[in-house]
Amino acid sequence: MREWLFDVFRERPWWMSAVMIFCAYMAFIYMPWDLFVKPVEVDQEVWFGILFTGAWAKILAVPHWFVYAAAVYGFRRRRSWMAFWAPAYAAQVAFGLYLWTALETGGFSGVIVGLFPALPMIALTWAFWTNRDYFDPKPLALKARYGDWALVTGASAGIGTALARQIAADGMNVVLSARREDRLRSLAAELEREYEIETRIVVADLGEVGGAAGLAEAVADLDVGLLVNNAGLGYAGRFDLLDGERLRRLVTVNCEAPLVLTHALVQGMRERGRGGVLFTGSVAGRQPLPLHAVYAATKAFDAQLGEALWAELRASNIDVLVLEPGTVETEFQEVAGEIPHRGADADQVAALGLRSLGEQPSVIAGWFNWIRANAAYRLTTRPILALVAGHHMAKQTPEELR
Ligand SMILES: NC(=O)c1ccc[n+]([C@@H]2O[C@H](COP(=O)([O-])OP(=O)(O)OC[C@H]3O[C@@H](n4cnc5c(N)ncnc54)[C@H](OP(=O)(O)O)[C@@H]3O)[C@@H](O)[C@H]2O)c1
Repeated sequence: MREWLFDVFRERPWWMSAVMIFCAYMAFIYMPWDLFVKPVEVDQEVWFGILFTGAWAKILAVPHWFVYAAAVYGFRRRRSWMAFWAPAYAAQVAFGLYLWTALETGGFSGVIVGLFPALPMIALTWAFWTNRDYFDPKPLALKARYGDWALVTGASAGIGTALARQIAADGMNVVLSARREDRLRSLAAELEREYEIETRIVVADLGEVGGAAGLAEAVADLDVGLLVNNAGLGYAGRFDLLDGERLRRLVTVNCEAPLVLTHALVQGMRERGRGGVLFTGSVAGRQPLPLHAVYAATKAFDAQLGEALWAELRASNIDVLVLEPGTVETEFQEVAGEIPHRGADADQVAALGLRSLGEQPSVIAGWFNWIRANAAYRLTTRPILALVAGHHMAKQTPEELR
């Protein structure tokens, strides 16, 4: 509990923490009471200095609730949009207080008297504005945090390539692993040329029995301080129609390989007193997913493993993160045999993962995915979730495999 409190309050100025606590009180206690318990006839809401009562107050309580909840999240996770929204919100409260008092007092004295109640909020607006750097993404400094070498699996395509590029750009040497050697060679040449770092290529099939152990062996002479368990694949379709051997290999790549590699490399990280492990999970791991049943199950495994290790290893100064993207535009859909559909940008997803490592146990890429995953998980039952998810997945699955 002490550690958690330290995590929540570290690095932020005290007055910002006080505002965050106030926002948490509003989001978790006051606004639910205001919305669900307070009688409509006595309800009041103020927006931009305008007073709303009755049903309008009830309706406007919903966005108000959202504002406070978003603020708690923004303070806690140092989201960049807070740099503008925190001073903007404080400024509109200051404006409201000024307008009210000025109009109530009336005349020229109102113009002056209105300033007094508004002054604390004007000061807060100024404080947020001058401290807006707090919400700027911090430099990664991966090399300083984890050491000279990173290992990225699944580096030959998609999110893995993006992760390898960003890690190299931050100055770490990178071991690039996958099956397609030509892709790894051209990426290695690019990284060495662009960022003046060292690379090593390890061609490994992580679907083979012993594939991950062979990869661990091939990097045993390096102090790998950052492990990126990214290699993975899907296989869409109705369970009984799918090829059993391909499903087994999928489980080996998505679950066994990260397990074996993490187990092998975490020993050295513990001895050196620092390290980082990133698992590329998926929002698919948050729920049962008919027509992608095995894939979702493997990503649930990655999420559970990663979040548990986050708690286990933090005392050893080893950061663990599960990066949970929704759909990303990579080769994934083609490999999985899905009907093509739009998705997020791999570079942005990779950047989110590296930025969040050391900040939290898991991160969902994209606010819509976040809302969907959390709303679905918390507001419905698992059977309903499975049926709705199955309906959604049918649109992405070729007819002959439904
Ligand atoms: N794209 C999405 O919509 C999405 C969404 C959520 C999560 N994810 C997760 O993100 C990760 C990366 O996927 P991606 O979207 O970047 O897909 P991708 O473009 O298909 O890349 C997959 C990578 O994994 C490697 N890989 C696949 N099977 C392998 C095997 N048997 N042995 C060694 N390496 C293997 C591939 O390399 P080779 O083929 O050269 O071996 C490739 O580098 C996966 O864990 C995936 O589950 C993807």
